Formats: sequence, C-alpha cells, structure tokens
Amino acid sequence: MKFSVFHTPELTPVQNSADCAIAIDVLRATSTIATALNSGADAVHVFSDMDKLVHESELLPPEKRLRAGERGGSKVAGCELGNSPLDCTPELMSGKRLFISTTNGTRALQKIQASPTVLAAALINRHAVVEYLIEHQPETVWIVGAGWEGSFALEDTVCAGAIVQSVADRTGTPLEDLVGNDEMVGAVSLYQQWQDNLLSLLYHASHGKRLLRLNCLEDLKYCSTLDSLNVLPIQTEIGTLVKYVPAARPVPELSKAGSR
Ligand code: MLT
Repeated sequence: MKFSVFHTPELTPVQNSADCAIAIDVLRATSTIATALNSGADAVHVFSDMDKLVHESELLPPEKRLRAGERGGSKVAGCELGNSPLDCTPELMSGKRLFISTTNGTRALQKIQASPTVLAAALINRHAVVEYLIEHQPETVWIVGAGWEGSFALEDTVCAGAIVQSVADRTGTPLEDLVGNDEMVGAVSLYQQWQDNLLSLLYHASHGKRLLRLNCLEDLKYCSTLDSLNVLPIQTEIGTLVKYVPAARPVPELSKAGSR
C-alpha cells in the first residue's frame, strides 16, 4: 500500500484516482456520517447543493428520511438536524435515510466519488478503516482532508496520520514503504506528536475554535475519541454511503478423517 495525503479537495488531483480513496472531516461531517450509520441509519446521501438535497429527499416519505444541513458550523434552516454527531441517536436514525450537506466534508466525498472504493474516516472510526485496508490491501490509497474552504485543517491531517501509523504498526511495515507523498510523512509526524492529546489539538484547530464559539465543546470531545465506533461508511453508488459489512468467511469443511 502507498498512501498519499491531500489536505483539501482543491489539492486533490482531478486526473487519475486511487484504488481506495478516503475522505476525512473529523469536525464534523465524517464523524456525523459514521455515527448515523452506527445508530442504524439505512444510508447516508451526501450533497454539496442544498436545493438538490431537498429535492431528492422529498422523493421519500417523511418518516423514512432526515435532512442535515450545515453552513459555517451552524444548522441550515428547514433541516431537522445540523451537523452534530451527538444528534444522531438510534431513536432518530434507526431505519431512516440521512440526507446531508455540509460546508466542506460533503465536498471532499464528492471529489473522490469516482474512485473504485470510497470510504469515510474520522478519529472515532479509525480502527474500522484500518481493518478494511489491511483486509483488502489496495495498492494506492488517497486520503483527502475536507479542510476549511480550501485551507489546511489540523484535525483532518492528524486523522490521516493516525490511519497510516496504525497500518504500519498492525502490519509491521516500515513507514517509508507506505509513503505516497510528502504530505503523508507530515501527517504521520503530526499524529506522533499529538496522539496522546488529540482533544488539545482540536482546541488549537481553527475550526475547533469556531465550534467552541458555537458552544460545541461536547462535539469536540466526542470527535477526538480515537477508535470509539466500529463502523465503516462505504460508498455503494455515487453519493450514497452505507455501513460496510465484511463478507462472511467460508467455513472450512471438516476433514472426513477427523470426523466421526
Ligand atoms: C464541514 O463540512 O465543513 C464541517 O463538517 C463543518 C461542521 O463542523 O459542521
């Protein structure tokens, strides 16, 4: 596996793609998407355009759908939800489809939507992402941070580093064998520096500060909790993510000699 990290959708190449592309928006879109699926949402549909979201969601009866809209950290008027993962309770999500549009996170997912495999990662589901990568061994992996309106975001980069470091540790692969670009080395270094203090890093992040001004401290705490959810959002068709279910392993037949 070779990992390339791109700090923003804008920095992600338009030509070519990777075998596996991973979008990260720790604060908060991919944390919210992972939580919604973990709480029993049937699927999450991502949009950059709110009008399109409203139009598509209205094709379903109200009891089968929820709309989540965020701009600048705040909830979009007319949506049932903003972008707080803490609102994605099993009571609300179970059996529903979530239609979501956010400032940057949904754009990151759209940027990579043509890749053969598209995953959504956050600190909370890092372990599930790593498990998938180790099981499927894609040759090239792109990790795309949502950033903030075209700029670098600390929280997305540290999560990229957390994924690569864990793959290296779990497989015993030297980091230099996993390097796809310089940004990947920077991401791993950032993670190594902050791994025991992720919440503090989110306090330093400009979007972390924005969310604190919006009284979202509990969101920051939740989103900084590494490996807390065993759920992997995976794209099944363009713009639609569902919970990944690993294929059942074939049960080995009992050998005749050993059976009585
Ligand atoms: C985004 O897409 O920029 C974020 O998820 C913003 C937020 O924290 O709601």
